[in-house]
Amino acid sequence: MQMKKYILKSHPVGEPKVSDFELVTEEVPALKDGEILLESVFLSVDPYMRYKASMIPQGGVMPGQVVARVADSKNAAYKKGVHVLASCGWQSHVVGDPEKMKSSFDDSKDRLTILPDMGGVSPSLALGVLGMPGITALYGLIDLTQPKAGETLVVSGAAGAVGSVVGQIGKILGMKVIGFAGADDKVAWLKDELGFDYAYNYKTTTVAKALKESAPDGVDVYFDNVGGQIAYDVMLRMKQFGRVSCCGAIASYNDLGVPSKPPLAPAVQIPIISNQLSCHGFIVTRWMNKWQEGVLQLLGYVKQGKLKYKETVTDGFEKMPNAFIELLRGANTGKAIVKA
Ligand SMILES: NC(=O)c1ccc[n+]([C@@H]2O[C@H](COP(=O)([O-])OP(=O)(O)OC[C@H]3O[C@@H](n4cnc5c(N)ncnc54)[C@H](OP(=O)(O)O)[C@@H]3O)[C@@H](O)[C@H]2O)c1
Repeated sequence: MQMKKYILKSHPVGEPKVSDFELVTEEVPALKDGEILLESVFLSVDPYMRYKASMIPQGGVMPGQVVARVADSKNAAYKKGVHVLASCGWQSHVVGDPEKMKSSFDDSKDRLTILPDMGGVSPSLALGVLGMPGITALYGLIDLTQPKAGETLVVSGAAGAVGSVVGQIGKILGMKVIGFAGADDKVAWLKDELGFDYAYNYKTTTVAKALKESAPDGVDVYFDNVGGQIAYDVMLRMKQFGRVSCCGAIASYNDLGVPSKPPLAPAVQIPIISNQLSCHGFIVTRWMNKWQEGVLQLLGYVKQGKLKYKETVTDGFEKMPNAFIELLRGANTGKAIVKA
């Protein structure tokens, strides 16, 4: 039996290319006592992989979380057929001691997570609304910005895995929610199905025009998924003492590796100072201590119909690089995943 993995062939310059990644095929080794064979079922593609692709050594396996099935087992704690959340990276199969495997995408202490029965929802949600992006949205909004009913929340990257959850939590909390996304069908989804009060295509209107209509008195909370010009334009229109959750800066990720094009950002210091903003940068793993509690809270919202989700699914493990490149181009609505 053979297993496949994608290694980084060359550090991307600008937008990644399929040829930056190399598909390697190997024989699956025989299991030793205590070991398990994991078979990836759903694999995550995420924006952070863009800067990981500039950091990991050439020849290294691309990192990432997967939902995997225990395909064979010589370990009584991991029965054949069980689904786990694992940090296997871009690999179709992994063999090893489960005690040494991780479920998180970084070096945190958590072990491989056996996925509980989530009441009939797809296990793939453990990569999205009930996983890392969901926790990023929940705690990145609530813990860092102390949002209140009646306040105005702006979220960029609003139709993505994190942004779509942020906006809906804002609605659950009773806020006025304004989203920015890069396509008309995304904007329609935010307004018609997710209940955003306003949503705009940032490619066909300006933040200035949009916020003049939707937030004439200013913005209380900004959840920033993109950085760059959009972040600057929103921050300029925030109320005094507004709060900003600095989650991501995807607008500049593809500048990595381009010598002639260092990442550019407008001088956000001016709106930060003049509007006396509090800006909190964060990495989601700071909430490992209350991760499961957050997942249960999100699952509760899903079951009550208060939190809707979408997945953009690419079929076939071999398409991992394509799915990743398309994510950076904005082809996904909701969570981008690959079905192996
Ligand atoms: N701090 C943390 O711990 C943490 C954790 C998770 C995610 N993040 C960050 O959160 C952000 C969203 O992540 P996600 O997983 O939810 O991804 P996502 O939003 O599902 O997918 C990325 C989206 O970014 C948008 N985009 C691409 N280039 C852009 C540009 N130049 N300007 C504006 N938008 C652009 C595209 O949508 P459009 O069609 O709308 O352009 C694309 O669909 C990313 O910046 C990510 O790095 C941070």
